[in-house]
Amino acid sequence: MMKTNNFPKGFLWGGATAANQLEGAYQEGGKGLSIADVLPGGKERMNIIASPDFDFKLDPKYTYPNHVGIDHYHHFKEDIKLFAEMGFKCYRFSIAWSRVFPNGDEEQPNEEGLKFYDALIDECLKYDIEPVITISHYEMPLHLVTEYGSWTNKKLIGFYENFARTVLTRYKDKVKYWMTFNEINSATHFPIMSQGLVLSNGAGDKKNIYQAWHNQFVAGAKAVKIGHEINPDMQIGCMIAYGTTYSYDSDPKNQLATLQDNQVNNFFCTDVQVRGHYPAYTKSLLARDGVKLSDIDYNDEELDLLAENPVDYIGFSYYMSLVVDVTHENQETAAGNLLGGVKNPFLKASDWGWQIDPTGLRIALNELSDRYEKPLFIVENGLGAIDKPDENHYVDDDYRIDYLREHIEAISEAIDDGADVMGYTPWGCIDLVSASTGEMSKRYGFIYVDEDDEGNGTFDRYKKRSFDWYKKVIETNGADLA
Ligand code: BG6
Repeated sequence: MMKTNNFPKGFLWGGATAANQLEGAYQEGGKGLSIADVLPGGKERMNIIASPDFDFKLDPKYTYPNHVGIDHYHHFKEDIKLFAEMGFKCYRFSIAWSRVFPNGDEEQPNEEGLKFYDALIDECLKYDIEPVITISHYEMPLHLVTEYGSWTNKKLIGFYENFARTVLTRYKDKVKYWMTFNEINSATHFPIMSQGLVLSNGAGDKKNIYQAWHNQFVAGAKAVKIGHEINPDMQIGCMIAYGTTYSYDSDPKNQLATLQDNQVNNFFCTDVQVRGHYPAYTKSLLARDGVKLSDIDYNDEELDLLAENPVDYIGFSYYMSLVVDVTHENQETAAGNLLGGVKNPFLKASDWGWQIDPTGLRIALNELSDRYEKPLFIVENGLGAIDKPDENHYVDDDYRIDYLREHIEAISEAIDDGADVMGYTPWGCIDLVSASTGEMSKRYGFIYVDEDDEGNGTFDRYKKRSFDWYKKVIETNGADLA
């Protein structure tokens, strides 16, 4: 089933992870606690965090799977070797802020933490794997939340700047591709992960979310500025969760609601970070959330910084599409990584209820390409599924191959449509702890890790069927998807 190959030469095939979900070793090498370290494991994770009582304290009645992750901290050489065997051209990972600045507000970095990333980056380069680094992926130092009230506090801009300057400078000749914040747009629904906000420290008041966003935009623009000053070849992107959004029907009420939903969920952050200014609909968007522009602390100097330092490319995750309906009551709903919306009768769903929609990815690429005319990087996509290994620990994951194949076909079609796509890094290329549920049993990887939801197991790695399949995809630059 070879097809005409339209993936550009140098297309960045690879895989993606985040420090807090795989490294483990949460207190080794001088690392401080991060917000991810205090998130309980299990399907109740989001409900526990959403409760007004949640106070960021470790509680013996819960388990904390992020503490051990998949122990990548001690297995990274073995893991990178497996990625190299698949032929990865790039590897997207994040630097745990609390490994480098354990509390977040120190002036000098923790050298031991940096040494770990020196070794990790060198290991990638040894195999010609291009590192793609997320500066902050849902793992800010806990101290910045408990001591400073998190991203609503403008001091965070300076702390992030110091962190970003440290890593951008140290790796200026080794790492070209960076992203400022993972899924920055997720804050309206899950401000805990990217903004460190929960009910007890102000998440209930939407003005805090917008203030935190503004401060993050400024901090991100500073990182872009620093990166370009250090090395003009650096490519620094933003990163959002993109959920292609359909209207339930042609009722203009649903069409308008879909447009407004797109503004807040998909476009607001990129509009600022890519175009360098707040979009014309900002005032009306804030008003829909009961927030006035005068509630936000911002100044001309910050707006100039945004204007002068737009991002170089758009990184985004894509897992599913959504349906908006404001005209019917009691519609069946779907689950999702940000919002589930109404169930789409045309789509099947994953074991976790996320609706599978490869055409939605083609639409996403077209929508982003039309709106921004910038390079696009799909830095997360994949199927979280329950894998059942046989007695040899082999997983026959045809369902995962089907999912990825259909999404890669959609990318190829979008390239034909004219989208400028830089690369594709499927999420959780090695099994890791899930962000939304803290489970190991929600697996995305090409590599199986022998570990259960309680963190028990041998931690041995095994290749799944998808491992050889993806290797062939990369070898043929996306031509052989059979
Ligand atoms: C994205 C996050 O939202 O989705 C990742 O950037 C996360 O951190 C991924 O792991 C998949 O979500 P989950 O909840 O299945 O782990």
